[in-house]
Amino acid sequence: MAIETKNLQVKYGDKLILKNVNFKVDRGEIVTIIGPNGSGKSTLIKALSRFIKAYSGKIYLNGRDIYTIPTKEIAREMAILPQVKHVSADITVENLVSYGRYPHLKFGKRLDKNHKEIITWAIEKTGLSKLKNRYIGTLSGGERQRAWIAMALAQKPNILILDEPTTYLDISYQLEVLELVKELNESLKITVIMVLHDLNQAARYSDKIYVLKSGESCQYGRPDRILEKKLLKDVFRIDAHIYEDKVNNCPYFIPHKII
Ligand SMILES: Nc1ncnc2c1ncn2[C@@H]1O[C@H](COP(=O)(O)OP(=O)(O)OP(=O)(O)O)[C@@H](O)[C@H]1O
Ligand SMILES: [Mg+2]
Repeated sequence: MAIETKNLQVKYGDKLILKNVNFKVDRGEIVTIIGPNGSGKSTLIKALSRFIKAYSGKIYLNGRDIYTIPTKEIAREMAILPQVKHVSADITVENLVSYGRYPHLKFGKRLDKNHKEIITWAIEKTGLSKLKNRYIGTLSGGERQRAWIAMALAQKPNILILDEPTTYLDISYQLEVLELVKELNESLKITVIMVLHDLNQAARYSDKIYVLKSGESCQYGRPDRILEKKLLKDVFRIDAHIYEDKVNNCPYFIPHKII
């Protein structure tokens, strides 16, 4: 098991946001978390990445209690692309991507040839070579998103956690990012946990889908078990027709009306 939570509860102030969440991801899997706005998806991701503290319950990373692992070790193991990102607008793409190497840098050491090769690889993988000297503040939403993904890649993580990685991207870059995620998963065996709002994309690119509703897990399983009429009705309040995408071998739906 790469990541597992046991009866995880998270509070903001007095408000219980995650209620007894039992989430688990096997090594090498792509797991997508879906759920309505405000259902707790980002909160779960923040808890997994230790950005916020659990109120109760446990989180295990490779079988170890996450609160006993040194921060730098966690950063070498997993890279996180948060939904809301904070960075000064006046650093270059290349600088941003190079931050991904810091967890691997020994104290007082500078980035050597090997680190720089990985930075270049991450920039190329995300199609940013021509933009590498541009300031982050001058990029389009989509270009900026790719720069963040490049930074996460430069971390060379075993686990990649992405909160809505396709936001701001046009459809072609959305697919490119998801294809990239799939390729990294297949060729480098990176375990992927992501949040997506597009349920058809979730069905197409995930081994498993985890459904959150009002801070509680309500379903977990293979896409063909999740993308069902009843679930779409119960969780997303939509009436939908479900079809089979024979080319990509996954289900897809067309929303019919809001209930
Ligand atoms: N810092 C905070 N302080 C107080 N409440 C918060 C805080 N962050 C999130 N919440 C609340 O926790 C709940 C879950 O938020 P979260 O961001 O996890 O939802 P989400 O599923 O990621 O939604 P979205 O699809 O809109 O990104 C929401 O009701 C939100 O208002
Ligand atoms: Mg969110």
